[in-house]
Amino acid sequence: MSTLFSPARIGNMTLKNRFVRSATWENMATEDGHMTDKLYAVYEELAKGEVGLIVTGYANIVAEEKPNAGMMGMYNDSFIAEYQKLTKLVHGFDSKIVMQLAYGGTKTTYNVGERVIFAPSAVAERGTQTLGKAMTKDEIGYIVKAFAEASRRAQESGFDGVEIHAAHTYLINQFLSPYYNQREDEYGGSLENRMRFLLEIYVEIRKLVGGEYPILVKLTASEFFDGGLTFADTRVICKKLESVGVDAIIISGNIHGNASAVVGESFDGHVIQQEGYFREYGAVISQEVNLPIITVGGLADICAIEEIAATTNIQYFALSRPLLAEPQLIKRWSEGRRAEVDCERCSKCRTKRGNFCVVYKKRNAA
Ligand SMILES: Cc1cc2nc3c(=O)[nH]c(=O)nc-3n(C[C@H](O)[C@H](O)[C@H](O)COP(=O)(O)O)c2cc1C
Repeated sequence: MSTLFSPARIGNMTLKNRFVRSATWENMATEDGHMTDKLYAVYEELAKGEVGLIVTGYANIVAEEKPNAGMMGMYNDSFIAEYQKLTKLVHGFDSKIVMQLAYGGTKTTYNVGERVIFAPSAVAERGTQTLGKAMTKDEIGYIVKAFAEASRRAQESGFDGVEIHAAHTYLINQFLSPYYNQREDEYGGSLENRMRFLLEIYVEIRKLVGGEYPILVKLTASEFFDGGLTFADTRVICKKLESVGVDAIIISGNIHGNASAVVGESFDGHVIQQEGYFREYGAVISQEVNLPIITVGGLADICAIEEIAATTNIQYFALSRPLLAEPQLIKRWSEGRRAEVDCERCSKCRTKRGNFCVVYKKRNAA
């Protein structure tokens, strides 16, 4: 029997199994980020589906910036009561829930022109072409504090931990990246300097939530383009995160909308795989740091997941689109019904009516 359905710990959190719902923006919150009945229902279904750890969709940490419509908010104390209801609901099914916190930045076309969008430097995002405002040190301090305050609220709301979104070309990822970060002060240049923003955020959060509260970090394995963040950089970042006391690292990449184009290709000495896009990258890191490593991206087949668990130190597996297609997937697998999930990885799950599987799951469309 594989270890996948055995309990395990991330920091002081005990999970009933090794499956994680990867952070998935639902586009179902109100305009100002508050909870709706639809959102509560999404989380109830995931918890009933026996997901060990549910990571929320990304929540914005300052009122004036959000990269997408209908995302959850965590920018003031007005959210605490409704999130207490959410965490209680999830805990009632013996699942754990962590809130993902993000500052979006230029990887957005949402309401561009109507707000100031921060960036490390004035370098347009490669996909959206959105140009941000190079942050002053005061603005850096403001965002660092905002991450910490949002984490304090998450703790007061009963979340079991927080996840810092440092992947997918969002603001923190851009600071880490030598392509997006052209700064000449102590936040740019060397990798040590490029890591400073993330580390300041981590340290400030830790101050407010205490030594025991789980803090997870989602990272990009590599930016997969010349001049971008390399896997060698990410390996160093992971070691640093381990040394400062981060509780788990999620190894991701910014390819899920376009994965079929890059699966099988080699970057930084490793190959993007069909089943578990970043498993080779995660496997290396899992040998190098003594922390739970979570792999995410392209996991749909329990046999492949078992194989990764058996042959690497990766012991946690996060899924996003498969759980949109089939929120009860983990329960089904645990009951021995092991067919692959009905997810075609078409990434059509983002709709104006909320994010759901338009191929296999039409009932949320109403
Ligand atoms: C609709 C949708 C919303 C997403 N929202 C987020 C998010 O809020 N935060 C995040 O880190 N990743 C987000 N992702 C990326 C996923 O967490 C995951 O990294 C990616 O989809 C690859 O995993 P999969 O192959 O299991 O879908 C989102 C993906 C989708 C499809």
